[in-house]
Amino acid sequence: MIAIGCDHAGVEMKKAVIEALSEKGFELRDMGTDGEPCDYPNMAKAVCELVVSGECEKGILICGTGIGMSIAANKIKGIRAALCSDSFSTRYTRLHNDANVMCMGARTLGPGLACELAEIFLTTGFEGGRHQRRIDLITDIENNN
Ligand code: RB5
Repeated sequence: MIAIGCDHAGVEMKKAVIEALSEKGFELRDMGTDGEPCDYPNMAKAVCELVVSGECEKGILICGTGIGMSIAANKIKGIRAALCSDSFSTRYTRLHNDANVMCMGARTLGPGLACELAEIFLTTGFEGGRHQRRIDLITDIENNN
């Protein structure tokens, strides 16, 4: 199960991403908003809590730029959120950073690219090895600050 959420800026892009991922066989849990103006940190929290609890394996967050969502998501213990706007970074944030949440900007990306990036994010595995040591160091920072 994949958790997805957006603020009012991301509603149309979220619809496109849900449709594209559903066609590929992914199950999505939509945490809103459906159009009502809202504050993006609340949506980030709702999606990230599902990821941290294990109810959802990954999360997708969309706001105007993706930046507010990524800042908010990365405040939550256990979340490694990546702002994704190109295929290389999207692939490598899974391979090397084991990112568990992707953030995208509805005012900076077109819907076609967003759908493609979401599929790359969800189908690319973590490489582990030396990268696990670096993830552990990130977790140490998280636990000590
Ligand atoms: C909302 O207008 C906008 O600030 C928000 O969607 C996002 O871009 C914040 O980072």
